[in-house]
Amino acid sequence: MSESSPSSRFYVTTPIYYVNDAPHLGTGYATIVADALARWHRLEGEEVRYLTGTDEHGLKVLRSAEEHGVSPQEWTDRMSRRYEEAWAALGISNDDFIRTTEPRHHRTVQRFMQAIYDNGYLRKGVYEGWYCVSCEAYYTEADLVSGNLCPIHERPVEWFTEENWFFELSRFEDRLLAWYEEHPGAIFPETRRNEALGIVKSGLQDISITRTSIDWGIPVPWDPSHVFYVWYDALVNYISAIGYGQEGDEFAKWWPSVCHLLGKDIVRFHCVWWPAMCMAAGIEPPSRFVVTGFLLVGGKKMGKSAFNQIDPVELGRDIGNDGLRYYLCRDVGLGSDGEFSYEGLVARYNSDLANNLGNLMSRVATVVGSKCGGIGPAPSPADSSRLAAVAGEGAAEAVAAWRAFAPQEALESTWRLIRAANAELEAVEPWKRDPGPDVDAVLGDALEVLRVVAILSSPVLPDASAEIWRRLGLEGAAGAPGNADLAGALEWGGYPGGIAVEKAPPLFPRRSAE
Ligand code: MSP
Repeated sequence: MSESSPSSRFYVTTPIYYVNDAPHLGTGYATIVADALARWHRLEGEEVRYLTGTDEHGLKVLRSAEEHGVSPQEWTDRMSRRYEEAWAALGISNDDFIRTTEPRHHRTVQRFMQAIYDNGYLRKGVYEGWYCVSCEAYYTEADLVSGNLCPIHERPVEWFTEENWFFELSRFEDRLLAWYEEHPGAIFPETRRNEALGIVKSGLQDISITRTSIDWGIPVPWDPSHVFYVWYDALVNYISAIGYGQEGDEFAKWWPSVCHLLGKDIVRFHCVWWPAMCMAAGIEPPSRFVVTGFLLVGGKKMGKSAFNQIDPVELGRDIGNDGLRYYLCRDVGLGSDGEFSYEGLVARYNSDLANNLGNLMSRVATVVGSKCGGIGPAPSPADSSRLAAVAGEGAAEAVAAWRAFAPQEALESTWRLIRAANAELEAVEPWKRDPGPDVDAVLGDALEVLRVVAILSSPVLPDASAEIWRRLGLEGAAGAPGNADLAGALEWGGYPGGIAVEKAPPLFPRRSAE
């Protein structure tokens, strides 16, 4: 994806999660990635708005409430709280949490849909088809697997007949194709853009957007015996949270330059339906979609249907939130599937966090203690330091990768810097030398590398980077270099020297995979 140059604002969203399921590592994945992006953009000095939330209407949620013998409202209150608590426990920095049962969302859906109705894109009709309750979606016969199974959940679909309102999606084929053409970077990765193009080019059918069979939903303002179909209500959350249709300039401030993160199973809804809905309502479609792959366990998508869920909060408690975030951002390329394994998590933690970053911090603090009386020396001037050039290059690459929505590459570049500092220490061996200028130079340079690394890794390691910053005795915070000028903060020579470096227990104690 092309690099996005920093603008002054960044609005990032995750899909809103169905409350029939508890949070698991699969849903935690998008939330953690979006969090890293939000933190990066705050570091760039941008005004950031990070939205996540829960999707609470529809048959699937209604059925799970019934199964648990409680009212849907009680069920969604209980389950939505679990998401909020899980994200808080994982240190997610969302600015807002939207629930589709909130009045602000009801109002927005009704206003937005009224605009589409008034613009003449809705008609009444009869719908019959194969419906997957887990997907909350209709499928054609051709989509089904083994005759009657949903292609995603591999569970039997059900035959539904309803009279309802239809959105005339078929009228948007040309407009959507023209929009994709004019916005070549809007959908990342390219394979997902091609998928969306393929869906549109193969012909769009009108979609049924209301239901009369259930009443757990948002009533249709002009036909109150109907409620909106859950997907139709859900997508609107992205504008409910920023004041669509309300007084004030909040909506214009954040829309349409938004970055929607979504899983690869919901491309059709986000990249085809949602832009068409926006066009029909007379607003600009969202400017960017970043489509993530799946977290797999033993090759299968992690999720309720596969009985292979992992609790991200427990995992964060076990390996540390930073360790978990690092593993997910470093081992899974954004856009690709990634196989989760506890062994893989521990191996990545030990190699990159315990042995590389943690070790650099510990050995520098120890040698500063033994050779410099605990006071960190200043780094050497950029033109006489071998590490300065590596740091400059590594930082430039990391910045470019973050801007291009590639956290995995950003972390690789950052860790090259750490490895170079460790190699330099091993080459000079300051612990074997008498105190003096050579020892000061290598330690000062290593301290400077730690400072730069703390800044660059802060979106993924918010806790550890804050702790490194504190041990280095620096003012402010690693995740907020104290000014909007990130480039200035990353320039070689920011570590002043002459301040106490704290020697403390390992940042990342080594782990065994037992
Ligand atoms: N409620 C809809 C989204 C509406 S957005 C307007 C929904 N909810 S979901 O809870 O089923 O899934 C939410 C997101 O989590 C999707 O993007 C889905 O791809 C993602 N994931 C669910 N399991 C996942 C994995 N195992 N791995 C990665 N992402 C996963 O769809």
